[in-house]
Parts: sequence; structure tokens; C-alpha cells
Amino acid sequence: MIVLGIETSCDETSAAVLDDSRVLSNVVSSQLVHVQYGGVVPELASRAHLRLLQPVVERALSEAGIGREQVEGIAVTHGPGLVGALLVGLTFAKGYSLAADIPFIGVNHMEGHIYGNLLTVEHIDFPVLFLIVSGGHTQLVLMKDHLDYRIIGSTRDDAVGEAFDKSAKVMGLGYPGGPVIDKLARGGDASFVRFPQSFLKEDHFDFSYSGLKTSVLTYVEQHSPQHMAEHQADICASFQKAAIDVLISKTLRAAKVHNVRAIAFAGGVAANGYLRAGIVEQGRKAGFDVYTPQMAYCTDNAAMIAYAGLHRLRRGEHSSQNLNAFPSLTLGS
Ligand code: KG4
Ligand code: ZN
Repeated sequence: MIVLGIETSCDETSAAVLDDSRVLSNVVSSQLVHVQYGGVVPELASRAHLRLLQPVVERALSEAGIGREQVEGIAVTHGPGLVGALLVGLTFAKGYSLAADIPFIGVNHMEGHIYGNLLTVEHIDFPVLFLIVSGGHTQLVLMKDHLDYRIIGSTRDDAVGEAFDKSAKVMGLGYPGGPVIDKLARGGDASFVRFPQSFLKEDHFDFSYSGLKTSVLTYVEQHSPQHMAEHQADICASFQKAAIDVLISKTLRAAKVHNVRAIAFAGGVAANGYLRAGIVEQGRKAGFDVYTPQMAYCTDNAAMIAYAGLHRLRRGEHSSQNLNAFPSLTLGS
């Protein structure tokens, strides 16, 4: 089945073409307009999606070597995300679906992240425990089968990606902060500063990142710019360790408690080098299969949306023209 995927939930305008699990194209246009503001400006995101989506879709089709009439279904993100941004993709998908007389399906962005990981897994051994880590979410999700989700832990305040972005901002490192901190932390001494690790020892599987964010701010206020510059790598490595160790530790504990076969991780923060190495090493040592997402499918992209949509379309599901955008859509709802 040939599926066109569309993703416009935040600041990436993306379109992809899949032939079953084969990615024929995955075009991602990152909106650079937000960099000067140090974060995503919702109205500017919507306007950029409006301008970029049509050419991005055209490019995805031409790179795939697929004519418009060959597309058999459309998958589009309809939440969670920025409402204006979501509406651009959703409206485009509805129009395409009507004009071409093919079904479309609204996809949950977090389900998309999960399927971005599963896209390259040859044999999925359910149950799988998923750690989903992005700019807006930090969740542990138990999957007993395809499209079946039970959330067993979530952040109570900030998401881990948000902690990376906000900490980088107060350290003057630019936006988005995740990739910058990841790079700067290499070679740094992670024991240089002891930043807090919330809920590390507690039995539940929830997370909290506001304390870490505040302690980075306090640290910056209490130290000179020279100190910050001289120890940049050490401070970034210390922050990264505090942010990531708790994710790995809770994922492994939840995997044991829920008796899963495999653990997997997804979302923008899944691109983090320290997380990737740590979860693979510790997960395997504990006897689990570890599904590692390819870098291209970690941060927002339409291939992951197309693949999740494909599973739903194959079941005969499709959305109606009345489908709305849901900024706070949750998994399993
Ligand atoms: O999934 P995503 O592209 O968008 C959302 O759905 O939020 O995730 C973006 C988040 C940002 O917070 C970004 O800083 C973070 O993922 N991120 C990283 C890395 N690459 C992206 N965080 C840590 N290390 C990275 N290498
Ligand atoms: Zn995302």
C-alpha cells in the first residue's frame, strides 16, 4: 500500500511516501525562522507550514518516483501539537483525500514516534516497553500489540527535551538545546556538578524535570561567565547525566516489573548519544532486546506518521472530513 504521510505539528514541515514499510522518500524542512527567538513561535510556525507544505509534498512524491494518482492513502498528524500548525497539515490532507478520492487517517504524533522506531525492527516481540522522549513528552508506554498502548509513567511537569532546550538557553547555547548539549558534553566530566535527579529512587514511573531546570538556572546565576565557558563541556556532561540516567534506570525497572521482552525508545531526545549508548548497554546486560531508532526517524518526520497510519488504514480505519486538530491529544484516546 502506498501511503503519503504529512507532519506539521510543530516546527518541521515534513512529507514522506511509504510503500508498506519501505520508505521511498522522507522530506523534512526545518523552519529556521524560530532560531532568532530561542524557541518555536506558534504563529510563525503556521505561516511557514502554509508556505512550505505544498512544495515539500511535491518533492516527497518526486523523490519517491510516485505520481499523485498512485497514492492509496494519506496519514496526517492531528495532535498533540500547536493547533494552527496541525490545522495546516490536516486541512491539506482532507483536501487531497477529497480530490483524489482516497481515505485519510488522523495519527497521534506520539504514536508516530513509536512507529518511527518500529519502522526498522524486523521482528517485533511484544510486549514492548517504550520510552518516549521529546520536546513535549516524557512517557513510559506498554505496548502489548500493534496500536495498543498503556501509559505507565509520565512527566509531572516539564518534558526532558524541554529541560535540554531551556537549560541550553540559560547557558547561552542557542536553540534547539538538545543537539548542542549532546555535542558539547562529549569529553566532559559528568561528575563535575551534581544536578538533581528527581524520583530516581521512587517506585512509581513518573518523571519530573522542573527541579533540574531550576538548578541549572541557579548554577548559571552563581557562577561567572569565565567559569561557565571554561567548564562548558563538564557542565553539559553533568546536566546530561542527571537528565538521562533517571530515564534509563526507570525504563529498566519498568521493563522488569511489567515483564516485557523488549525495550524501545523514540522521540527527538532518542537522538541523544549518551541515552542511545546507555540504554543499549544496560538494557542488553539486563537481558532485554533493545530497539534503537534510526537517527532520521527520531526527531519529527512524516515517515513515522505514514507508518503508523499504514497500520490503521490496513485495518480499514479512516477519518471523516469532520476530524479536528487536538492540541493535547493523548495516546490511546
Ligand atoms: O520529537 P521532536 O523532534 O519534537 C517534539 O515532538 O517535541 O523532539 C524535539 C526535542 C527538542 O527538545 C530537542 O532539543 C530534543 O528533542 N533533541 C535532543 C537531541 N536531538 C533533539 N535532545 C538531546 N540530545 C539530542 N541529540
Ligand atoms: Zn515529536
